[in-house]
Amino acid sequence: MLRVGVLVSGGGTNLQAILDAVDDGTITNARVELVVSNNANAYALERAKKHGIEALCISPKDYESREEFNQDLLAKIDAYHLDLLVLAGYLVKVPECMIAAYRGRIINIHPSLIPSFCGVGYYGLKVHEAALARGVKITGATVHIVDEGMDSGPILLQKAVEVLEGDTPEILQRRVMEQAEWKILPQAIDRIANKKA
Ligand code: GRF
Repeated sequence: MLRVGVLVSGGGTNLQAILDAVDDGTITNARVELVVSNNANAYALERAKKHGIEALCISPKDYESREEFNQDLLAKIDAYHLDLLVLAGYLVKVPECMIAAYRGRIINIHPSLIPSFCGVGYYGLKVHEAALARGVKITGATVHIVDEGMDSGPILLQKAVEVLEGDTPEILQRRVMEQAEWKILPQAIDRIANKKA
């Protein structure tokens, strides 16, 4: 049974997609044991609690230094003996000590077809604003392994989504979530849990 931790900062729709996929059998041999957010008001924490999952708020603001936060975040997560960490809209820089400790076992969902519209400054709506500004006809989402870079680790899964006439960043974001993110993130976890990745 793959022990999964999910790191979040916002609404948690990707977390919800994971929880629903475990419940409906789309994901097998895996269990979400922990949800961690840097944002006490993240609705994702509510989603975890409603599901009876341990939900922690660990914020850099509560520490004297970033280094102290990094060490405590790693120590708290280590206590759950997790096999896989999933970044689902997690907006805090993942500590290098954590990337080293969980080498190859941290995955992230990014709302574009990497290498387009990724890297520093490309997160949330900004990704879709850039895609619309460039005039791409196809965008999508990517699940990749997290390394020390920004959105630079090996790609595991991608799914393309059409950009439509009249799309606003918000409309496009929703379509990318519905048609891509909420499908390939659970699919990636299931593959890892069943050693098909
Ligand atoms: C999603 O758009 C995801 O692609 C990005 O952050 C957002 C998280 O949304 N990484 P949610 O918190 O899962 O609803």
